[in-house]
Order: sequence, then C-alpha cells, then structure tokens
Amino acid sequence: MAAKRKALVLGGFTGLAATAQANVLEEAGWEVTRMGRAELDFQASDAFGKLERLLDALEPDLLVNGVAYAQVDAAEDNADAADFLNRAVPAALGRMLKSRPSCTFVHYSSDFVFNGKKHSPYTTDDPTDPLNVYGKSKAAGEETLLSLGLDNCLVLRTARLFGPGRDNFVTTILNLCRKNGSVNVVHDQTGSPTYTEDLARCSLKLVEAEAHGLFHIVNAGESTWCELADEAARLARLECVIRPVTSAEFPRRAARPAYSVLDCSSFERVTGNKPRPWPQALRDYIYKNTTPGGDAPDEERDAGKA
Ligand SMILES: NC(=O)c1ccc[n+]([C@@H]2O[C@H](COP(=O)([O-])OP(=O)(O)OC[C@H]3O[C@@H](n4cnc5c(N)ncnc54)[C@H](OP(=O)(O)O)[C@@H]3O)[C@@H](O)[C@H]2O)c1
Repeated sequence: MAAKRKALVLGGFTGLAATAQANVLEEAGWEVTRMGRAELDFQASDAFGKLERLLDALEPDLLVNGVAYAQVDAAEDNADAADFLNRAVPAALGRMLKSRPSCTFVHYSSDFVFNGKKHSPYTTDDPTDPLNVYGKSKAAGEETLLSLGLDNCLVLRTARLFGPGRDNFVTTILNLCRKNGSVNVVHDQTGSPTYTEDLARCSLKLVEAEAHGLFHIVNAGESTWCELADEAARLARLECVIRPVTSAEFPRRAARPAYSVLDCSSFERVTGNKPRPWPQALRDYIYKNTTPGGDAPDEERDAGKA
C-alpha cells in the first residue's frame, strides 16, 4: 500500500480556511498535522526555528498557511501586526520551502488586494491596488512570495468566506436575524461569496495538478452583502427584514472595494474544474451546519420555490 501523503496545516484548529482544508485533506486520505497558536505562535521568538525543526522531522508533502491577520478594520490601527503575519510570515515560510522542493506550499490571499474600480471580474493579470491596510499587507505577502520564483508554491486569492468552525458573515447575519428580526446590510459592495469546503476541495485540485503560481478560487456568481444575507435568511427559514443600506450609511474603519468579484479561469484551465455557484454552496453550508436537532429543511418544498 502506498504511504499516506503528509500535510502540515498552520491554523488548522481554529482558522476558517485552514480547518476546512485540514478536514478535506483527511477525507482524501492524507495524514494531517494541525498546528494552532498554542503549538506555534508566530509572535514567539523561536517560532521559525521550531517550524524548521518540525518540517525536518515531519517531511510533509504539503504545507498550508492558514495563519493570517484577518481583522480588516482592526488592521487599520495595527499595521505592523498585519504586515508581520500577512507579509513577513509567508515570506519566511516561502524561503523555508525553497530548500524543500518536494513540499508544496499553499498560501491564501484576498480580493481586497484590488481597488474595486473594475466592473467585470478581476483576473490574476489585473494589477493590485489595495484600499486598506489589510489589503496592502496581503498584496505585499503575495508579491514577496511570488518574487521567490518557487515552483512548489500556490498563492490562492479567495473572498467572503463562510463555513463551519468560526463566526463569519453568514452566522453573524443569522444570529442578528434571530435576535432582532431585522438587520441593516450594505448593498453597494459586490463580491464572490465562498464556502470554505469548496475552497479546500479546489485547492487540493491545484495541488494534485502540481500547479504553481497565482490563482483565484471563489464560488461562481456574484452578490452584494445584502443579497448574501437575504439568501442566507431565506435558506435558514428565518422571518427577517434585511434592510439594504449604503456603505456611507454604514461606515467602517477600513475602506472596502465596491466591486471585487474574482475570475477563476486560470484555476479552471489548469484543473478542468469549475467552482459551483455560491447559492448552491450556501445551501449546503446552511443545511449541514445551522439546522439544529436534525430538523432538516424539506428539500421538496424548497425546490418548489421560485
Ligand atoms: N475570511 C475571509 O472572508 C477571507 C477573505 C479573503 C481572504 N481570506 C484569507 O484567507 C486566509 C484564511 O483566513 P481565515 O478567515 O481562515 O482566518 P481566521 O479564521 O481568522 O484564521 C486565522 C488563523 O491564524 C491564527 N493566528 C493568528 N495569529 C497567529 C499567531 N500569532 N500565531 C499563530 N497562529 C495565529 C488564528 O489562530 P487563533 O484562532 O488562535 O487566533 C487562526 O487559526 C487568510 O490568508 C485571509 O487573508 C479570508
């Protein structure tokens, strides 16, 4: 019997993307070692030495970096911390992987590297021009990594993640609906909602295809935050008034792109696969994860709706 392929997943206990990636790898028969902040805190002085020793001992076929400074608004006042986790850490990981060519490195980036002035989906050839500190740190991270010229490195831009294991936009909306019966949601920022499980499956396809370089992975279609909230409440069968508001009416610390839909054609060319539409993925997520006590929604009744 062939030996199991081995993966080391950073952020694999709590990270939204990383837990899904670890789960999907395990399902696919990989031997997965998860690291959380308790096992490897990148702020600790010996973190990189510890990781080098771990890589030597484990000799993984895949290293997944799910660690990030992911709080977009907080990053405005914590630029150094965002720069460290989103640029310096992936750059150091990339350098470590340079001498380990048999190990593939997966790093995630974001649609927030774009300024949102386009009106058609962003491709991997479009120039970056981030509007906020978080986006700048993500753009710097991907640029630094790609400049290393590794042929064992995948930089995967994704967006608007929802999935199990950690609060996300969808759980926040559903909780507010349950609590208040109404919620204000911005309707003038359009992007690509993405289910973490689909991101993980698509990432694995790229690993299996031995691809390298920059790719976009998001669910197909586009939506405003308001449309996503509306669909989530409908699928969860919640009586809730979703009130569309403008970004100006709902000011946030960090500016966001008005349009950041990602084009996945390079992923599709390399793997021959196409991510499914986001409403289907959302339905899967909500039915699997947020219906309490096995009270599954009636598929027939739902299918009968327009
Ligand atoms: N979420 C989105 O909608 C979204 C959109 C576009 C792109 N992305 C990108 O996707 C990737 C994953 O994002 P995510 O939403 O999965 O992030 P997340 O859920 O916030 O997970 C981040 C992970 O990093 C860990 N971490 C933070 N600081 C650490 C430190 N000093 N040492 C060790 N671990 C540390 C966290 O551990 P703790 O749980 O202990 O804090 C957590 O496991 C990121 O690169 C992000 O930029 C995400």
